[in-house]
Amino acid sequence: MDNAFIATTFDWDHRTPTDRQRTANKVFRKLRIRAQLTPPPPNMASVEARMNLFFLLEQVLVNKIPGDIVDLGCNSGDSTIVMRKILDELAPERQLHAFDSFEGLPELSENDKQDRVYQKGYMAAGLELFKRKFEALGLKMPHVHKGWFEETVPKDLPEKIAFVLIDGDLYESTKHVLPHVYGRMTPGAIAMVAVYYDEKILPRKGLLGGFRSPGVKRATDEFFKDKPEKVSLLYANEYSNGYFRKQ
Ligand SMILES: C[S@@+](CC[C@H](N)C(=O)[O-])C[C@H]1O[C@@H](n2cnc3c(N)ncnc32)[C@H](O)[C@@H]1O
Repeated sequence: MDNAFIATTFDWDHRTPTDRQRTANKVFRKLRIRAQLTPPPPNMASVEARMNLFFLLEQVLVNKIPGDIVDLGCNSGDSTIVMRKILDELAPERQLHAFDSFEGLPELSENDKQDRVYQKGYMAAGLELFKRKFEALGLKMPHVHKGWFEETVPKDLPEKIAFVLIDGDLYESTKHVLPHVYGRMTPGAIAMVAVYYDEKILPRKGLLGGFRSPGVKRATDEFFKDKPEKVSLLYANEYSNGYFRKQ
């Protein structure tokens, strides 16, 4: 299927400087000031991360891996929209499940506090906004599970999972969902771990913490210490992703 909808549904023009920024950049160059203005990057995912999502989900559907599709940390719905669009075209019979507190991040544990990236309530986006986005695009609503992962997972997870996006940003959120999700993934199923940021491979100095979410990698690596699968890194510019395929 085409993936042009990723460009037409969302605004990804964030790396092209506006005319004003271009003018300012010219002035900087003349004055030999080593600075360059660009629009700010988006704060949930980069276009590369959406492409990664597209190709990973498409892969399990084309390969007819059994199970439902899960978005763990759907926020205002952009990742769920990408998933819905792909399912509508390739596998409309598959059930799509979206989980979020719709109140942003929970109270931080000591483990997450030490990273000094996040705070309680950060990224709060209400369920109404999620619904409005689906309505505006004329898309069928997924099964929405509102609440803290600690209450909704595993209770509301489908029995079999073919694809899951794990996007909770925190160590504790990732640590909590991983074993439950892993246990329900069918052989060949894929989990994409958003913001699995490997500083050793992609040392992007000067990036704000939110792009890094170090707790995600910590929790994921801990979990996979005694598992046969390997988590692979996928480049995604300001963000990067991990994924593994269930054996
Ligand atoms: C980065 S956002 C998700 C972005 C979305 N997947 C996208 O790509 O557009 C992370 C989300 O995880 C949710 N979240 C994190 N920990 C949670 C928890 N323990 N329970 C419920 N929601 C949680 C937050 O509310 C937030 O909306």
